[in-house]
Amino acid sequence: NELGVVAVGFSGGQCKPGVDAAPMALIEAGLIDQLKNDLEFKIAYDNQVHQYSEIQPADDPDFRGMKKPKAVSAVTRKLCDQVYEHSRAGKFVLTLGGDHSIAIGTVAGTAKATKERLGRDIALIWVDAHADINTPETSESGNIHGMPVAFLTGLAKEKKEDVFGWIKEEHMISLKKLVYIGLRDIDRGEKQILRAHGVRAFSMHDIDRHGIGKVMDMALGWIGTDTPIHLSFDVDALDPQWAPSTGTPVRGGLTLREGDFIAECVAETGSLIALDLVEVNPSLETEGAQETVRAGCSIVRCALGDTLL
Ligand code: ARG
Ligand code: MN
Ligand code: MN
Ligand code: MN
Repeated sequence: NELGVVAVGFSGGQCKPGVDAAPMALIEAGLIDQLKNDLEFKIAYDNQVHQYSEIQPADDPDFRGMKKPKAVSAVTRKLCDQVYEHSRAGKFVLTLGGDHSIAIGTVAGTAKATKERLGRDIALIWVDAHADINTPETSESGNIHGMPVAFLTGLAKEKKEDVFGWIKEEHMISLKKLVYIGLRDIDRGEKQILRAHGVRAFSMHDIDRHGIGKVMDMALGWIGTDTPIHLSFDVDALDPQWAPSTGTPVRGGLTLREGDFIAECVAETGSLIALDLVEVNPSLETEGAQETVRAGCSIVRCALGDTLL
């Protein structure tokens, strides 16, 4: 099994600096070595954290309320190509972010590659405290890391090529193949969107009620066997007790074990084709930073098939 690794030091989808340092922190904590040695992956990694400063426009005014629209569009477009190349060749793609706006590029890349390679639509499992399904119009913050799912499902559209106009049908996923786990901070407009489209979502309430085991059975049952899965894991899905170093922490989240368990269950399906780990921000805490990095490494190992026994 071959693994393509893409490290993306991008923070332009939100306002707090530091999330760009996450890929280096994860790698310095030994993540890639662990994957190589313990899990015996053949690794394709270009040995660089992409900052994409060369393609980010100097002049980037707000547009439809979005902050840094051209920069996020240009970076995710480029990232889409990188992920596409790995995925098209049949490699598992691991992307280390970066803020969650980068998922516009990663999911667009695997969706397109999988349509071409297998003639299949992918399913998307979004593990997060937030739904990140705001349109530019429903967003209260203008931060694009709160909008990736809207652009990926076609709920948000823009004709301008340099503001996500490059996203075509082939890059998109169906709202019916989207599953959320861990939600607990949803904006008003997002709730309306989730209800109107009957999106499958397991909130913290559902996890409290049924337990994480049953929730994973239901989540994976909804997707069905044999559908290629892209897992996008926002570290803020974990409770701040385990992952305090993140830009938008929300109390009442997953335990470390619940996070790992989700990753293990998705790995067990044998259908996982890509993983994003995003929103680790090592600069926001001192002691908490290392803990958050360790939690992130653990989730990645579990998703890539590290088993307890
Ligand atoms: N819903 C809020 C917003 O749209 C918060 C989004 C947080 N997203 C994230 N990827 N951490 O601004
Ligand atoms: Mn989040
Ligand atoms: Mn909110
Ligand atoms: Mn998120």
